[in-house]
Amino acid sequence: MSYPFQIRSLDEYRSVYEQSIKEPKTFWASVAAHFLWRKKWDKVLEWNFKQPDIQWFVNGKLNITENCIDRHLKDKGDQPAIIWEPNNPDEEKRVLTYNDLYFHVNRFANVLRNNGVKKGDRVCIYMGMVPELAIAILACARIGAIHSVIFGGFSAHSITDRLQDAKVEFVITCDGAYRGNKDIPLKNIIDDSLELCPFVKRVIVLERTRTPVSMIKGRDVWWADEIEKAEQNGNPELPAEEMDAGDTLFILYTSGSTGKPKGVVHTCAGYMVYTTYSFVNVFQYQPGDVFFCTADIGWITGHSYIVYGPLCAGATSLMFEGIPTWPDAGRFWDIIDKHKVNVFYTAPTAIRSLMAQGLPPLAGKDLSSLKVLGTVGEPINEEAWHWYDEHIGKKKCPIVDTWWQTETGGIMISNLAGITPAKAGYATLPLPGIQAMLVDEKGNEIHGNDVSGNLCIRFPWPSIIRTTYGDHERCRINYFATYPDLYFTGDGCLRDADGNYRITGRVDDVLNVSGHRIGTAEVENAINMHTGVIESAVVGYPHDLKGQGIYAYVIFDNTLHNHDLTRKDIAATVSRIIGPIAKPDKIQFVNGLPKTRSGKIMRRILRKIAEGETNNLGDTTTLLDPAVVIEIKEGKIN
Ligand code: WT7
Repeated sequence: MSYPFQIRSLDEYRSVYEQSIKEPKTFWASVAAHFLWRKKWDKVLEWNFKQPDIQWFVNGKLNITENCIDRHLKDKGDQPAIIWEPNNPDEEKRVLTYNDLYFHVNRFANVLRNNGVKKGDRVCIYMGMVPELAIAILACARIGAIHSVIFGGFSAHSITDRLQDAKVEFVITCDGAYRGNKDIPLKNIIDDSLELCPFVKRVIVLERTRTPVSMIKGRDVWWADEIEKAEQNGNPELPAEEMDAGDTLFILYTSGSTGKPKGVVHTCAGYMVYTTYSFVNVFQYQPGDVFFCTADIGWITGHSYIVYGPLCAGATSLMFEGIPTWPDAGRFWDIIDKHKVNVFYTAPTAIRSLMAQGLPPLAGKDLSSLKVLGTVGEPINEEAWHWYDEHIGKKKCPIVDTWWQTETGGIMISNLAGITPAKAGYATLPLPGIQAMLVDEKGNEIHGNDVSGNLCIRFPWPSIIRTTYGDHERCRINYFATYPDLYFTGDGCLRDADGNYRITGRVDDVLNVSGHRIGTAEVENAINMHTGVIESAVVGYPHDLKGQGIYAYVIFDNTLHNHDLTRKDIAATVSRIIGPIAKPDKIQFVNGLPKTRSGKIMRRILRKIAEGETNNLGDTTTLLDPAVVIEIKEGKIN
């Protein structure tokens, strides 16, 4: 089977793009026609960006798992759906065919039902990268429960926030997770988080690492025991729940410039159509190809391009439990060699850190199966792009630089592999249906080429964010209020003479550290929880490997004796409150912060100092106390 909506030439891209803009409803209806619906939609789209209220495929009925699994059984039942590569290369791989996946998802759906999970219930999934994670996600979708996957690197405190926000009653976790030479005690972390979440009724625990855990009577059950019970009941084959196109499929928390992370809500039909469409087109996936996305399923990339997009397309998706540098820095290359990977999709931060190891880890690795390479998550510097092109793709594999966001659900701006031209450092052109534009500070559109501005989208696409869970107003303010009638991405962007887009980075107070999104306000709140801290301000600065590093300016009380120890304590506090990924790289103790007369911290100045710029700080005359700037410059941490 090839894909009827796969674009195969540059001319075709141009004409499809034009049609998709002129007649978006006709265009998306023609794509959606290739999916399995219980009932067809009445209207393709109803929308306004004011509230916002966006409905795709109105009154359509479906279940996404019938598209991910059931409809492939006839022709590809024995084809691998998921190939799982363990953390430890000495352990056996696991292969789940579409038939296997059907069996496992049904059986675990039974387990969920037996444990009282119903349509619309929220289920938190906090697991390592094991096949059961994909099974748990799909089983939720099968019965219409809303999954909220939490990345295994988040702390108990972060989990509590998310459980409370979504009023979660069910949790699925593992005893522990292997990542390189570490064993992360997931169940213990969940137990800490649950002390403040008495509303959680059931915790299902998969054994993976045999880490000692405490199982609380009446609340905690073992995955394997529940499977056995389902088997004893005859493991009945239950029909998948019929879902409305607009029903919530999942919640995924992400950081913004203010406050706590918000729960981005994606819905069943639009998300399905767009992730599949973008998967097939951007990567030019061909039936039988092995697709390897290195992201963790705890992030949107894993949701869209390990699980839903590839499976809806009937692809073979490779899932890797471990990390790129263990047992050595050749781990990705070994996996590509071993499983004959055809499409490889990773993050610039991984490319940079592997590039730093030089060429020895590549010696003897056969990468000739590769056809397409991809990157995602942050701007890729030209040096890393060329290294990837030369040493991994051997100059024979197109590189797709895919720009998108948790809120967009799928890839928005990217070249199509081998079909539309690539340009190092550029995401290049919008996908069909994506009406990208640049605006100035006032929201006026910037026309023409060779210009830069803030990136907005003027028309809905099927996988656009629908709301932020439990707080629709927050969704409106964050994305739809900055510029009336536009979706604002938060990114700065330039458009070159040929109309190619290059994302230059966030223009709000959101950091991108190793491809992980972290709000400066969140880090500040965590730092401020340390008893001695009076006030803090956090900014990003360019970091060779991570893309951005975290620089914290901290006002400490006057009992500060040992700077180094206190720095470690503050880092430990952040790690406890958010997770190790948010630990500041540099902490500078200061006596004051540059503030305007109205008390607003002037981050622009702090950012410049952190970046190493000391002379050209711009206008500092509006500062309440310009002297603090001199002191901060002198104390800069290198
Ligand atoms: C932010 C979204 C979407 C998957 C992973 C991140 C930055 C993402 C690119 C790219 C330059 C990129 C943007 C965006 N970003 N892809 N190809 N080039 N920047 O998802 O955590 O929601 O972060 O990542 O700044 O706004 P996320």
